[in-house]
Amino acid sequence: MSMLTIAMPKGRIFEEAAELLRLAGYQLPPELDDSRKLIIEVPEENLRFFLAKPMDVATYVEYGVADLGIAGKDVLLEEDRDVYELLDLKISPCYLAVAGLPDTPMNEVAPKIATKYPNVASTYFREQGEQVEIIKLNGSIELAPLIGLADRIVDIVSTGRTLKENGLVEYETIVGITSRLIVNPVSYRMKDGEIHDLVDRLTGVIADKAVSS
Ligand code: PRP
Repeated sequence: MSMLTIAMPKGRIFEEAAELLRLAGYQLPPELDDSRKLIIEVPEENLRFFLAKPMDVATYVEYGVADLGIAGKDVLLEEDRDVYELLDLKISPCYLAVAGLPDTPMNEVAPKIATKYPNVASTYFREQGEQVEIIKLNGSIELAPLIGLADRIVDIVSTGRTLKENGLVEYETIVGITSRLIVNPVSYRMKDGEIHDLVDRLTGVIADKAVSS
C-alpha cells in the first residue's frame, strides 16, 4: 500500500474535515489539530497531511504534491484547477452572494465589486449582462462597501452574522457551497485502491450523517 498525501485546508473547514476522517475510522493524532507543523505524517494509517491555505489546496493537488485535497466548492470554482472532484463531503455549507449597503443602487457606470473571488464574480456579472470593475481583496471584504471602495461585494455567507453586524444586505445568491474531496488525475490512476478505500469509508460516514440529521 502506498502512502496517500492529503492537503487539508487550515481554518474553518479543517475541524469538520478532520472529524469526518475520524468518523471514517482513521486514527489521527491530536497533533493534526493543534500543532503549527505544516506536514504531519500518520504512518499507522498510511497518510500524510499538508496544512495549506484553503485557496491553495487545489494547486497542491493539481501539481501532484498532494494526491488528495479537501477544498470548498468556492475555491474550485475560482481556481478552475485540473483536478477531479470525487465526493461532496457535505460539510461547511455556505453560499456565495452579492451583498451591499441596503437601498443603494449600483453605480450605473462601471460599478465596483470587491471580492476574494474575481473569476467567479466576473463570470457572474458577465452572465447578468453587467459591466463591472472587479477589485480583488484578500479578506474582510465587508469593509469595502462600508468605506466607499465598492458598490457591492461577492463573498461567502455562512451564518449571515458578518453581513448583519456590518449593516449590509444580500442582493443575490450566486451558488451554494460545500466542501469537496478532490484528487490529482495521475494519483487517481496510480493509487486507485487506496483512494477507493478512503472514498468508500467517507461515503459511508456521509450517508450515516444524512440519515441521523
Ligand atoms: C468569511 C466570509 C465572510 C464570513 C461569513 O470570512 O468572507 O466574511 O466568513 O461568515 P458568516 O456569514 O457566518 O458571518 P472569513 O472568516 O473566512 O475571513 P476573511 O474575512 O479573511 O475572508
